[in-house]
Amino acid sequence: MTKIIVTGAAGFIGSQIVEALLKQGEEVIGIDEFNDYYNPGLKRKNIAHFHSLPRFQLIEGDMRFLDWQIILKDAEIIYHQAAQAGVRASWGQSFCAYTERNINATQVLLEAAKDAKNLKSLVFASTSSVYGDAETLPTHERICPQPVSPYGITKLAAERLCELYYKTFGVPVVALRYFTVYGPRQRPDMAFHKFFKSILQDEAIPIYGDGQQTRDFTFISDAVAANLAAATTPAAVGEIFNIGGGSRVVLTEVLDMMAEIVGKPIKRNHIEKAMGDSRHTAADISKARQILGYQPQVSLREGLTQEWQWMKSLYT
Ligand SMILES: NC(=O)c1ccc[n+]([C@@H]2O[C@H](COP(=O)([O-])OP(=O)(O)OC[C@H]3O[C@@H](n4cnc5c(N)ncnc54)[C@H](O)[C@@H]3O)[C@@H](O)[C@H]2O)c1
Repeated sequence: MTKIIVTGAAGFIGSQIVEALLKQGEEVIGIDEFNDYYNPGLKRKNIAHFHSLPRFQLIEGDMRFLDWQIILKDAEIIYHQAAQAGVRASWGQSFCAYTERNINATQVLLEAAKDAKNLKSLVFASTSSVYGDAETLPTHERICPQPVSPYGITKLAAERLCELYYKTFGVPVVALRYFTVYGPRQRPDMAFHKFFKSILQDEAIPIYGDGQQTRDFTFISDAVAANLAAATTPAAVGEIFNIGGGSRVVLTEVLDMMAEIVGKPIKRNHIEKAMGDSRHTAADISKARQILGYQPQVSLREGLTQEWQWMKSLYT
């Protein structure tokens, strides 16, 4: 049996990767510190239904202080999802959480990974935020990253550390730059979660700026499929891949689609543009398509419907 580690296993994307692996019959060791960036109760809920399975083992703690030599003994695959996410909160006082959880935690893992003899793949969760306001849309991986948020800076630093440990010690790293992932278990600080919650509470939806910003939205099962492919494709080692949903959508169009899905008009409240938000994001996914066989499967309408169903079960 392949020994697989998932960091950030109780979070949005990590818990979905764990679940997919367990469904495939794999054994998984999940690591999470259940920090309070958002309600840790939601994280407990994310893993509640597979927590008791014998094939799942949870290690609860800060990954900077774990005994990695023991954890990585015989490990073949690591999905490194743990991080301090969120663009807007990365300014000001909270920045040290970003350096500790994104840069330092990744460095600790990479140090241990260089001695892990059986390791075949360490998949690092990177982000479209490394691009900032990229001038080329859709953006390909060779564009020089220029983050516009402290979050993007720390994720880029972590991605570069991965590259450095690959080049220096041969740690088999693959970096996936996710473009706005959504779907069931989405973090409560993310837009669609906030939008659906406002709808359920009959409140106006807060929209940053004019609503004309565009995003490439990636449904969670597509992001999970990209991870599984990245970990098992030898040609992916040492490479960086954009993982997007396949199309670029204007925010106001998303709101119109949401109104159709929930079956009622939605109230909008325009607030000031947030510092650190990119105006547009769009992924050129041709490299992922070619090397990983990645092809997004879930349309925005279908994905939003699934997230809406999950939101209703969570809050009503
Ligand atoms: N959700 C998105 O749209 C998106 C987009 C781009 C990149 N990413 C990246 O994907 C990854 C997962 O994001 P998510 O949305 O699932 O976030 P999340 O906050 O839901 O999950 C991250 C988990 O990591 C845990 N964690 C953080 N620091 C830790 C540490 N030092 N030790 C142990 N556990 C720790 C947290 O408790 C949390 O449960 C992150 O690396 C994030 O930067 C996410």
